[in-house]
Amino acid sequence: MKGIILAGGKGTRLYPNTIAVSKQLLPIYDKPLIYYPLSVLLLAGIKDVLLISTPHDIDNYKELLGDGSRIGINIEYKIQTEPRGLADAFILGEEFIGKDSVCLVLGDNVFYGNRFSDTLKSAIQSTEKYGANIFGIMVKDPRAFGVVEFDKNGKVISIEEKPQKPKSDYAVPGLYFYDNDVIEIAKNVKPSERGEIEITAVNNAYLEKGRLHVTLMGRGMAWLDTGSPKGMHKAAGFVKTVQEMQGFYISCIEEIAWRKGFIDDDKLRKLGDELSMTDYGQYILSLLEE
Ligand code: G1P
Repeated sequence: MKGIILAGGKGTRLYPNTIAVSKQLLPIYDKPLIYYPLSVLLLAGIKDVLLISTPHDIDNYKELLGDGSRIGINIEYKIQTEPRGLADAFILGEEFIGKDSVCLVLGDNVFYGNRFSDTLKSAIQSTEKYGANIFGIMVKDPRAFGVVEFDKNGKVISIEEKPQKPKSDYAVPGLYFYDNDVIEIAKNVKPSERGEIEITAVNNAYLEKGRLHVTLMGRGMAWLDTGSPKGMHKAAGFVKTVQEMQGFYISCIEEIAWRKGFIDDDKLRKLGDELSMTDYGQYILSLLEE
């Protein structure tokens, strides 16, 4: 399975923070926002990643992450000239995806929770079985998201994009798994009223064919909002609190790559040494004393 991170957009809701710098490069406490969705792909065991961003920002991502070999993976880059919608990721990524299945994660989505790796493993299995797997997670106000509608037996009957009157409290977070058909489906999506080819239209296309599996994330799962300065500040506070309480870091890409066996002890030590002036680097080095 391949992985795509979509890190485009202008981030206008965070201006002036994001006038000069891409939103997904801003820090959530001690690491750039992009580390969090990248961690999700690593946890899913994905080693081939395509990062899509704007002409203005792509070089900054290259500087930060390079070709991925530092953490034992392969990262490629693709420019999105205009924000045409999330489903554009599969059109831009056609060649990269090849004949594979694909996981799309949005560059500003932060997930943290117990047994998340198991959740990802089952999502990959459901994708093989059905064709697509997305998630539903309960939120207080789902109006800013894709929202899942259930019938009285709990069967999913539709996904609505940013409904004024949401039919449930289950939002669809920015983490999607599809088989290879997603490329053709994306190409056939008609732009919505806001002029974007919506991921929700892709999901509804799978649903109509009876090929969509929706996994509900329980309350043990944190999906942190990074859409506003307040949201980013709260997310940073969450990460800091958990890291200080538990001693384990959230979304340390070097640690995940090492635990997954993508890099060995020597490589991890080298990465830790390079960052040894920070707590983040010291944490990496401390892993070797386990
Ligand atoms: C997008 C999707 C929406 C989804 C959300 C998750 O919204 O269109 O369905 O729930 O991401 O972050 P956007 O961030 O483009 O407003």
